[in-house]
Amino acid sequence: MPQEMKKVNVAILGATGNVGRKFVEILEERDFPVNNLRLLASTSSIGKKLKFKGKEYIVEQATKDSFKDIDIVLASAGGKISKEFIPYAVKAGAVVIDNSSAYRMDKDVPLVVAGVNNHALKTHKGIIANPNCTTAQLIVPLKVLEELAGLKRVVVSTYQSVSGAGKASMDELIKQTKEILNGSDPFVDLTPNRKFAFNVIPHIDVFAEDGYTKEEIKVINESRKILGIEDLKITCTAVRVPVLIGHSESVNVELKKPITKKEIINAFNEFPDLEVLDNPQNETYPMAIDIAGKDSVFVGRIREDKSKPNTFNFWVVADNLRIGAALNAIKIAEIIVKESLLGVKK
Ligand SMILES: NC(=O)c1ccc[n+]([C@@H]2O[C@H](COP(=O)([O-])OP(=O)(O)OC[C@H]3O[C@@H](n4cnc5c(N)ncnc54)[C@H](OP(=O)(O)O)[C@@H]3O)[C@@H](O)[C@H]2O)c1
Repeated sequence: MPQEMKKVNVAILGATGNVGRKFVEILEERDFPVNNLRLLASTSSIGKKLKFKGKEYIVEQATKDSFKDIDIVLASAGGKISKEFIPYAVKAGAVVIDNSSAYRMDKDVPLVVAGVNNHALKTHKGIIANPNCTTAQLIVPLKVLEELAGLKRVVVSTYQSVSGAGKASMDELIKQTKEILNGSDPFVDLTPNRKFAFNVIPHIDVFAEDGYTKEEIKVINESRKILGIEDLKITCTAVRVPVLIGHSESVNVELKKPITKKEIINAFNEFPDLEVLDNPQNETYPMAIDIAGKDSVFVGRIREDKSKPNTFNFWVVADNLRIGAALNAIKIAEIIVKESLLGVKK
């Protein structure tokens, strides 16, 4: 733990979930200066135990009174629960870093990827939003390219792991896979967008009237907000693939100025926590199976799009539970503590 960081009381809302458990793990890994830790979930988790720094912590039911004396809330219990409890946490004087989509597009709520738009944290009024996992990894190379040559248009197609849909979906993929391999019909109580095993599903979250899914709309709107480019031309197709952890994205970017592939690689290499894995001769490129558990965004397959001037294709992969959720939120919490941006206790 860096000497200058004061110890704070932390609550995790949704502690038993995919992202919640990563919070506990990463707080320990990074030696975050935790004074007291409170683990909150639904009634079905009351009494469950999670380990932090060798000590067992008992999970409590989240209530509106759970946030007394808490400095930082890491929230990952879904949008509905965020809307229900976050106002009480803010009222109690905590700063909430929310992983759900509940507050992301509110104009008073900074939407932040650590290292990309830290300056936005200074304007927080108690709530800071963490972007959708798909946006969080995409935004890193986009930020580099915007600074290098200006973004003219972005086309992204995603290949998203089932962990992005919560712990229950990971369990479902494993169960369905076993059932199919055993020669039986997979678990039948499924909606079409949850037939994960041996499938590729062009449907994540609900459909809007214009035919886009909410996931695709999140990528478009959140990218614009984080980069501060309201009229950025960007489109997205979001697809679920039968992978447990790690989102992959195929990205096509048209730039405003001519630039070489070498300049792009140099700029990617200079950006913290962005790693280039790109050597076609050695068949080197980022793959979800290799990057699970890693703390960088990986880029590969960088090449010119010969069908259009100043346009490039590349492949972006990251651990969605870390980069897209828990790690980013904890990096934000570290900045909040270091820069004394905590809330005011009432
Ligand atoms: N997974 C990702 O890659 C990712 C990335 C970015 C953002 N997010 C967002 O993070 C949130 C959580 O995602 P997840 O993947 O961790 O989901 P998850 O595995 O389904 O976990 C949900 C958590 O919410 C808790 N919860 C449910 N109802 C509750 C209630 N009434 N009161 C208090 N807690 C309650 C659950 O507790 P019980 O165990 O007691 O039910 C569990 O701890 C979602 O908003 C998601 O969009 C996820």
